[in-house]
Amino acid sequence: MAEHRKDDREGLLAQIRQSLGPRSVVLIGLMGAGKTAVGRRLASRLDLPFIDADGEIEQAADQTISEIFAEHGEAYFREGERKVIARLLEGGPQVLATGGGAFMNAQTRACIKARGISIWLNADVRVLLKRVHRRDHRPLLAVRDPETVMKKLMTERGPIYAKADITVESRDVPHDVIVGAVIDALGAKLGCDAKPGIAKASPRRKKVR
Ligand code: S3P
Repeated sequence: MAEHRKDDREGLLAQIRQSLGPRSVVLIGLMGAGKTAVGRRLASRLDLPFIDADGEIEQAADQTISEIFAEHGEAYFREGERKVIARLLEGGPQVLATGGGAFMNAQTRACIKARGISIWLNADVRVLLKRVHRRDHRPLLAVRDPETVMKKLMTERGPIYAKADITVESRDVPHDVIVGAVIDALGAKLGCDAKPGIAKASPRRKKVR
């Protein structure tokens, strides 16, 4: 049987879970910021469910986001996004990854404020473009010049994203490193004590002669 290795920060993680109560951890930020990848790992570390709002919107509509945009337009998508996120936020605690435009809606922001802790995964445009380059499911970037679109979105949305409870820089490093930074920031925000976890071996005491 494989040995069960405890998370070496179990103490801090348990405190975060407790301090959260029914609140959700809500990841916000531009496309390519790593909300889904970081969110999934964060949920696993916190032992909470992970929910991807875009996936829930697609399920509710029985269409992909690209299909919703093409068939009904962006305004229709935004209305669905607002409703789905409001419904999901009733189900905390959980880690919720939102689509890049969700936090721009004032009602959604108020709902997140009331029922969650928001974390802006901020990344520079170069990192974002590198990440979204690998996927083509984003209608807003299905244009000839995605770099210009991304820069414009950053300018428009940056000041609103900055209203999040916590900001973490999503650098071009493995996702687990960002997850570690998010856990530290959450612990600090919630006033948790970040002493070494219970699984850490205690240092050998020196013999007193
Ligand atoms: C959007 C971001 C997408 C998705 C939709 C619109 C946006 O989600 O909701 O394509 O307005 O920034 P991701 O941020 O998860 O890619």
